[in-house]
Amino acid sequence: MSTYTTMETLLTPTTLARVEHIAREAGRRVRAHFQAAFNVWEKAPGDLLTDADVAAHRYIVQALADAFPHVQVWSEEGEAPAHPERPLWLVDPVDGTTNFAHRFPVFVVSLALWWEGRPVLGVVYDPLRDQLFSALRGHGAFLNGERRLSVTATRHLDQALVACDWTRGPGRPHLLAAVNALGLEVQALRCLGAAALGLAYVAAGWLDAYFNAQLQPWDFAAGVVLVEEAGGLTSDWQGAPLPLGTTTVLAATPPLYPVVQSRLSMCSTCK
Ligand code: IPD
Ligand code: CA
Ligand code: CA
Repeated sequence: MSTYTTMETLLTPTTLARVEHIAREAGRRVRAHFQAAFNVWEKAPGDLLTDADVAAHRYIVQALADAFPHVQVWSEEGEAPAHPERPLWLVDPVDGTTNFAHRFPVFVVSLALWWEGRPVLGVVYDPLRDQLFSALRGHGAFLNGERRLSVTATRHLDQALVACDWTRGPGRPHLLAAVNALGLEVQALRCLGAAALGLAYVAAGWLDAYFNAQLQPWDFAAGVVLVEEAGGLTSDWQGAPLPLGTTTVLAATPPLYPVVQSRLSMCSTCK
């Protein structure tokens, strides 16, 4: 049983500052690997792992365990938690591993605290640009701890810069259907290759919407807190809240959300 018996004892700016520090330290390790030679392995066909993923995973898991010994940690590169209903750190040591492996310079470290069915703290750190996006539920979202983030007021598709990402596995036909459903009308469509960064950019107002057909909790949890604390809306493609096991994810500025969600709702069952 956690010794953090209430939200209030853990959900503090002090906790956020500790997690920001861990994200920056992990990012420093990832950047150092990127600037040197590194190994790449395949965990499964098309699913890559690099020295940077391994190094960041080991550092983050130990650092979180030291700082918060009573909270479980679920990293993409680790084991699933024994009690997913209890407070949980969700860790993506490198979000954008395919980019990293190709030396495409877009990847982040993503850390989130999941509690009572939703993410309540999120930190996304881009080590090449030294941009740290962070949010604590109820306290707003910030860039580098200084600039308060706010989503745009964009309401029309033809004025919207929208991003999605390529998925592995069975979500890909749904993604293609979604691109078909939106691609002719949006101002432009982007694929960054790092879901956490796409969501952080919606929070920052640099994108108007982001969607993905197949994510894991460590991909979206931190970005969802960022978007919601910046005034945006998030859901799955059917408009439902995002449980730990969701696959489809949408984030958008409030006026744009209904337009995009109604298009996507027809795509998650497309063949
Ligand atoms: C991937 C990225 C990508 C998304 C994939 C994820 P990884 O994460 O977030 O944007 O489309 O589904 O698997 O493997 O680079 O941590
Ligand atoms: Ca990821
Ligand atoms: Ca990853």
